[in-house]
Amino acid sequence: MASTEDKPANKENTSSWKDSIYNPRTGEVLGRTASSWALILLFYLVFYCFLAGMFALTMWVLLLTLDDDAPRYRDRIPSPGLVIRPNFPEIYYNKTDPRNYADYIQKLENFLQKYNETQQQKNKNCLEGQHFMQENDNKTKEVCRFRRDVLSLCSGLSDTNFGYSEGKPCVLLKMNRIIGLMPRGNPYINCTIKREIPVQIQYFPSEANFDKMYFPYYGKKAHNDYLQPLVAVKLLLGKEDYNKELPVECRVEGSDLRNNDERDKYLGRVTFRIKEGSVK
Ligand SMILES: *[C@@H]1O[C@H](CO)[C@@H](O)[C@H](O)[C@H]1NC(C)=O
Ligand SMILES: *[C@@H]1O[C@H](CO)[C@@H](O)[C@H](O)[C@H]1NC(C)=O
Ligand SMILES: *[C@@H]1O[C@H](CO)[C@@H](O)[C@H](O)[C@H]1NC(C)=O
Ligand SMILES: *[C@@H]1O[C@H](CO)[C@@H](O)[C@H](O)[C@H]1NC(C)=O
Repeated sequence: MASTEDKPANKENTSSWKDSIYNPRTGEVLGRTASSWALILLFYLVFYCFLAGMFALTMWVLLLTLDDDAPRYRDRIPSPGLVIRPNFPEIYYNKTDPRNYADYIQKLENFLQKYNETQQQKNKNCLEGQHFMQENDNKTKEVCRFRRDVLSLCSGLSDTNFGYSEGKPCVLLKMNRIIGLMPRGNPYINCTIKREIPVQIQYFPSEANFDKMYFPYYGKKAHNDYLQPLVAVKLLLGKEDYNKELPVECRVEGSDLRNNDERDKYLGRVTFRIKEGSVK
């Protein structure tokens, strides 16, 4: 019984296929009258307006709940990238010709301007070795002081050539800022130069560490004057390194920060090449 009821009625078998597009007798287009089409169009218009309105409303509510500074939902805080100053993948210089390292020195000096003692007056002398938590309602967070002279021979204060004129160049390292990051352990920089006899490297500060007091960072809006801690490395190249391109790799070690990601070679590490001698 059911099967016979499901069969469609064959009453329109007689009309030609043209009639199904436009039927001049009834005035139907595609089987509907103009008013029927108008109703359908009106329905869809209202329906889609309603959908667009719903979308806009949900979006608005969602945006209201978002914090300007910190991403609200994160399963874990990412590891920071490591960057060098001067920011060149190849640092080639000729110590006897100041013109060809002037660019590096200029870049270093510009970068260190905001670490000047005069700029640091308003910053706080934080307690070393512990995180500087500021979970209060203060709109602007305080900034821990980073003393430029901690960088010693690489501070540009005692040696304005940052070691380039004596063939023992300085490179500064910093980690990218990441909101809320509090590394476990005691992150420090370890650089290696691939060579049979290891090249001696001096670190400033001598522990080459990023102190806990510079973490966490509270975001650009609240923590606008935040200064990333720096570690300087001075590469004590010798005569035997002359005109040799040396690959240098620096890593953040001693903490839970990642430094051996296969896909991201700047995560917690950085590589660059250094050469004293003829400049291209
Ligand atoms: C920072 O210190 C350097 C060297 O002492 C000086 O030349 C420069 O004018 C200072 N810059 C600022 C912005 O204070
Ligand atoms: C808010 O910041 C001021 C300095 O800007 C500081 O003296 C004060 O202790 C801070 N408030 C809290 C609750 O930490
Ligand atoms: C630095 O890295 C080298 C090579 O990975 C390693 O042999 C050395 O022990 C490290 N030094 C420190 C202080 O971690
Ligand atoms: C370094 O610069 C000096 C002075 O301009 C020049 O005499 C010398 O040949 C240069 N050294 C190299 C390796 O290019």
